[in-house]
Amino acid sequence: MEAIKRTTPASEAEREAIDGLLGPGEDHLGRDAIAGHVVRGRRHLLLPCLHALNDRIGWISPPAIDYLASRLGASPAEIHAVASFYGLFSLSPREPVQRHVCIDLACRAAGGPTEHSVDDGAHPAPCLGLCDRAPAAITIGGHDPEPDPGLAAVDRANDDVLLRRVGSGDPVDLDAYRADGGFSALDRARELGPEGIIAAVEASGLTGRGGAGFPTARKWEAVRTQPVTPHHLICNADESEPGTFKDRTLIENDPYALIESMAIAALAIGCELGRVYLRGEYLRAHRTLSTAIERCRSAGLLGSSAGFDIEIIRGAGAYICGEETAIFNSIEGYRGEPRNKPPFPFESGLFGQPTAVNNVETLMNVPSIISEGRRADRRLFCLSGAVRRPGVIEAPIGITLGSLIERAGGLPRGHARWSCRRLRRSGRP
Ligand SMILES: Cc1cc2nc3c(=O)[nH]c(=O)nc-3n(C[C@H](O)[C@H](O)[C@H](O)COP(=O)(O)O)c2cc1C
Ligand code: FES
Repeated sequence: MEAIKRTTPASEAEREAIDGLLGPGEDHLGRDAIAGHVVRGRRHLLLPCLHALNDRIGWISPPAIDYLASRLGASPAEIHAVASFYGLFSLSPREPVQRHVCIDLACRAAGGPTEHSVDDGAHPAPCLGLCDRAPAAITIGGHDPEPDPGLAAVDRANDDVLLRRVGSGDPVDLDAYRADGGFSALDRARELGPEGIIAAVEASGLTGRGGAGFPTARKWEAVRTQPVTPHHLICNADESEPGTFKDRTLIENDPYALIESMAIAALAIGCELGRVYLRGEYLRAHRTLSTAIERCRSAGLLGSSAGFDIEIIRGAGAYICGEETAIFNSIEGYRGEPRNKPPFPFESGLFGQPTAVNNVETLMNVPSIISEGRRADRRLFCLSGAVRRPGVIEAPIGITLGSLIERAGGLPRGHARWSCRRLRRSGRP
């Protein structure tokens, strides 16, 4: 059957959004006068291009799909398949700026709407990772949307390690971070070298905080010793599990610590470009981390002179993209579907090359392990819903649920069938 040719070309605004990332096309159809394999080698720019269209126009139109396809050497059907995979993109007309309103558990408990009672024009959304601010909503789209919800709530304690800088000043003040000992762990890591770093992480007992609990040192050693190069590091900041907002809290409040942690991890595994796969809805975290990365580049702490750089990849509303092999497909410009294992990421991950994927909290444990030889025996817990003070709490692994609820101010009046003390006495965890 003959292919149906669309006659409407992409609008000027659509072409500008795409050309802003790919550079101008060379002929009147926007085609590039460069070899096909070079054009196809830019497929990893598909997700950023779709974001650029969605932010500027509000939706991904058929002519925009055709134009993108011609610029990336792919078929329109392939581009359509990717665009339709992500919840934040629309394939039908809508306004560039959209309101997404959470209809998940903590927000419902705080009086938020259901799928059927969301205001006209707003989009019902699964947990937005803002459960500490329930009922939550965000605005997405437009040129430079203001990230409306404020910094995440925390319950600080004097012996906090992971949260110790949270809420203690301007998170993007690089001088303040350095004055507080920032980047001294990276100096120490350079003295230790890759094997020394991995030995210190192994001695700390650090295991993954992203779900599977895999020993971090073993993962890094497996990547470090792979003969194939380059080696990749991906910080998994997709955080879409309903009720979780710890990674957002860390990035919004302590972005330089994440950058330093990634630089140490990169030294350990032999990587020159780290990527943060950041949940698309985390606008404030995106802004904070982008500013911190820029300031580190200006100070020579990132970029070619430092031998290591970091780029942020914005997710686009797909829970499954938190799974590590789905992240590879998403970054490469394909539908964010998981791959079969084996092969495992340490041997064949991003672009088929050795890759370490680590959760934000896992990485943020690393500086104090390197500089103080600390044991990794603390974790972050997210408390929301029926507690008086929702927020993130740092506590030793093994803390009881009753103690956590007590630190979050206990249950609100009318919610408690069991008081915290009775919970503890009952022996319930
Ligand atoms: C459906 C699914 C969703 C996941 N989502 C996340 C996530 O949002 N963040 C995360 O760090 N790990 C997530 N994981 C786990 C990752 O696949 C991976 O194990 C983890 O990022 C490795 O980092 P770690 O060793 O530091 O924990 C998810 C796994 C599955 C199966
Ligand atoms: S933001 Fe609404 S439940 Fe998490």
